[in-house]
Amino acid sequence: MKGKLPLYGFRITLRMDNFEKYTSPDATIYYGDCLTALLDVPDESVDLVFADPPYNIGKRFGEFKDVWPSDNAYAEWCYRWLELCVRKLKPTGSLYVMTSTQAMPYLDLWLRERLTILSRIVWHYDSSGVQAKKYFGSLYEPILFCVKDPKAYTFNADDIEIEAKTGAVRKLIDYRKEVPTPYKTTKIPGNTWYIPRVRYRMAEYEEHPSQKPEALLERIIKASTNVNEIVLDPFGGTFTTCAVAQRLGRKSIGIEFQPDYIKIGLRRLGIASQFNGEELRTLDKTYVRKNGNGIRGDSIKPTRLFDVQI
Ligand SMILES: C[S@@+](CC[C@H](N)C(=O)[O-])C[C@H]1O[C@@H](n2cnc3c(N)ncnc32)[C@H](O)[C@@H]1O
Repeated sequence: MKGKLPLYGFRITLRMDNFEKYTSPDATIYYGDCLTALLDVPDESVDLVFADPPYNIGKRFGEFKDVWPSDNAYAEWCYRWLELCVRKLKPTGSLYVMTSTQAMPYLDLWLRERLTILSRIVWHYDSSGVQAKKYFGSLYEPILFCVKDPKAYTFNADDIEIEAKTGAVRKLIDYRKEVPTPYKTTKIPGNTWYIPRVRYRMAEYEEHPSQKPEALLERIIKASTNVNEIVLDPFGGTFTTCAVAQRLGRKSIGIEFQPDYIKIGLRRLGIASQFNGEELRTLDKTYVRKNGNGIRGDSIKPTRLFDVQI
């Protein structure tokens, strides 16, 4: 693996046999397989793990095709990196994990033997890429929220409250109280989260087949960490987790093994401006899109970033 970066400030490049490590004061990127890179992270050092692995559904991530020989083989691979993630978590830490609806039962059974699963979250959205015609198409992805110690974990409920439709919109008064009081206008989100998927027209869009919305990570990071705490993402992709952690004043560690996505991470986190002599630039949306719809990127208005409803 070769990667040459101009180094400035605190930035450090470390080349090991199996991974390269790029660091800045608030973020570390490992370029390598997470099963190896995770060994470099000290045990019990991380406050939050967010893991969004390949789902075994045949997507292509750079040179890597997301297919395992069987469901069992996929689950066995997941157990290997999950074991490491659990080891890296502090005793007060939380772990959120995503996978396909069909694979989640394997992870659920495995995790409930080792951690406490507090919520089984459904992230749902408005449309899948290709519309199913002969069955009910999948419009959600499951997320497990687990903690090491159900008596000692962070949950910043006040920081993630959302509008409570009943109270805020209908302006109802609760006459059951001794003194009639207006209904609360905010509430803690339940376990079904409506958050639009990342689309080309959104400002946060990067070139990746499975980028997660910043709004999803914002809720998770705000709920389960405090400022300056450490977030670990073993499957960085476009490094959404680390980018949101940085914006929220948290520290982060992201791991990824495809060079095109490492480039996105180094740029998005401000760690480097070049990689292997290549200038790292934001995605050029000024070209006419391949689908030939004639829309020029420079006429595209970014949609609202945090378009969260419930
Ligand atoms: C579902 S995507 C993660 C997307 C990410 N959450 C985001 O918002 O951009 C999974 C990523 O894991 C990477 N990956 C797959 N296997 C890996 C491994 N063994 N080690 C490190 N990265 C891996 C893939 O290249 C892909 O970018």
